[in-house]
Amino acid sequence: MKHRYLASVLGALALSIAASPALASGDAEAGAGVFKKRCMACHSTEAGKNKTGPSLAGIIGKQAATADFAKYKGLKGSSVVWDEDNLDEFLANPKKFVGAKTMAYKLKKENERADVIAYLKSLQ
Ligand code: HEC
Repeated sequence: MKHRYLASVLGALALSIAASPALASGDAEAGAGVFKKRCMACHSTEAGKNKTGPSLAGIIGKQAATADFAKYKGLKGSSVVWDEDNLDEFLANPKKFVGAKTMAYKLKKENERADVIAYLKSLQ
């Protein structure tokens, strides 16, 4: 009886460990396609090249709203330093993350967010 309990606890633990690192499993190649379809209209990955949104060159590890971009909205003055976790949160719902007027685009699919983050990371 005791052993069965232990086995089920360990089983549940193994499952939750297997299920949790969604972010680590992003596919940069698939992310390039996501970027092209969902982000490229407003962003480039070339340093200094801004569109409706700022250049995303070197974005991971960079303080938010510090590209040479005159049209920052809610992110202006932000103390956020972009990492995989906060980028995931921002992309899922920019308005909720920033709490003000900001990027008018939500990337709802978790796997697409993981892929596009892996892609941006692969450029650095
Ligand atoms: C409709 C145009 C538009 C689309 C589409 C768009 N963005 Fe943005 N993005 C913006 C704007 C405008 C800002 C600046 C927001 C602010 O200042 O609050 C921004 C800001 C950002 C930032 C923060 C940049 C910084 O310098 O801190 C990241 C990261 C970002 N976008 C990633 C993405 C990704 C990844 C996609 C595709 C899934 C995407 N964006 C799609 C317009 C867009």
